Amino acid sequence: MDSQYSASARGDNIGGVSPKPPHSHLDRNAPSAVASAYGGISTPATPATPKQTSPVDGIQMYSRITMVGEGTYGKVHKARNKETGQIVALKQMRIDMDREGFPITAMREIRLLKQLRHPNITQIFDVVPESGNAVCVVMEYMDYDLSGLISHPQWDPEPAHKKSLMQQLLEGLDFMHARGILHRDIKGSNLLVNQQGQVKYVDFGLARSFHHSRMQELTNRVITLWYRPPELLLGTTLYGPEVDIWSLGCVLLELFTKKPAFQGQNDIDQLEQIFKLLGTPTPTIWDSLKKLPWACYMTPNTRYENRMRLMLSSKMSASAVDLISWMLSLDPAARPSAAQCLGHSFFTEAPAPLPPTSFPVSGDWHEYESKAERRKRRQTTTATTAKQRSQVPSND
Ligand SMILES: Nc1ncnc2c1ncn2[C@@H]1O[C@H](COP(=O)(O)OP(=O)(O)OP(=O)(O)O)[C@@H](O)[C@H]1O
Ligand SMILES: [Mg+2]
Repeated sequence: MDSQYSASARGDNIGGVSPKPPHSHLDRNAPSAVASAYGGISTPATPATPKQTSPVDGIQMYSRITMVGEGTYGKVHKARNKETGQIVALKQMRIDMDREGFPITAMREIRLLKQLRHPNITQIFDVVPESGNAVCVVMEYMDYDLSGLISHPQWDPEPAHKKSLMQQLLEGLDFMHARGILHRDIKGSNLLVNQQGQVKYVDFGLARSFHHSRMQELTNRVITLWYRPPELLLGTTLYGPEVDIWSLGCVLLELFTKKPAFQGQNDIDQLEQIFKLLGTPTPTIWDSLKKLPWACYMTPNTRYENRMRLMLSSKMSASAVDLISWMLSLDPAARPSAAQCLGHSFFTEAPAPLPPTSFPVSGDWHEYESKAERRKRRQTTTATTAKQRSQVPSND
């Protein structure tokens, strides 16, 4: 997805997950200080042991093979550990200092990735300083991302494969939510897949903690537009895990339809797209809607009917439509938790979930390669058309 749709709150609302400031002996502005403070692999129970990595040794341990992603904060490369031969992902992060001269965003992401150890969350191995104002996060390498796979014309997973991906994604989300973490940027390019058919969350740059018992004020400028739930588009600042459930519901729908469900050009258009498929909300469907800050001037006047079942019954089973419709409830209070989704009859009826193990490309297919391929195809078409035009005999 284009960067114009990227969520815009990377540096705010640090709240409960803000990392502890480093001890005063650390140079707060040096990449090596950040890498040392968060380096080494530690289990959540044991505090991170500062690892003495010099800028040269750390990054020189790896040879970059190819670029697989270009994010807001730096590039992601597939790389090889020169000593062990292990293939890893290197995510470069520029260290942008906040007002207090502290790289909160990068440290928050690193800290969360280290805390959350689960088969469906990308594992972080190390953090090494790079020259300039950057650190590199060394992570397990994943061959594909879901956005790249979904847009690949030859990727056609069986129903059992889709079910497995859905189950794994819900298990990862249930784990995160149970630990009080909201992801806040769930979309295909932040869901990585490996050749064993495992799917894992990545990119915790917008994540933050929440309290199960009491809602806190949070920014509504999060989540990439096409995956942003209606209550955030309508200005709510009080929300919880149900925002991630909406985004994941959008991704699951995309698994079946092969295209993003709601492709708005701006916030108002995004709401319109949502209501066109799910129906314009009435007080019976979403009673608290009228209390949302921007409800009176952003809700469209047009009355749309819910067309979800009509549009999707040919693409998926009735229980899949039922589960995804539940996740895409307009009223956030009506959305299920990840644990409730996992208990849905969709997962117990045939076929049984089976991780996909055959892919259209043998390795490296992310949103990045998929976009590059599309660009190449467009350029070839333009060049061919231009050539054909120049060969048309002139009538002058
Ligand atoms: N561990 C990994 N293995 C393989 N590819 C990865 C890995 N981590 C990230 N990528 C690829 O790099 C892309 C960018 O990474 P990531 O989303 O973490 O960066 P970002 O700067 O937060 O990006 P954005 O702002 O575009 O979301 C991902 O969409 C994915 O395709
Ligand atoms: Mg990302």
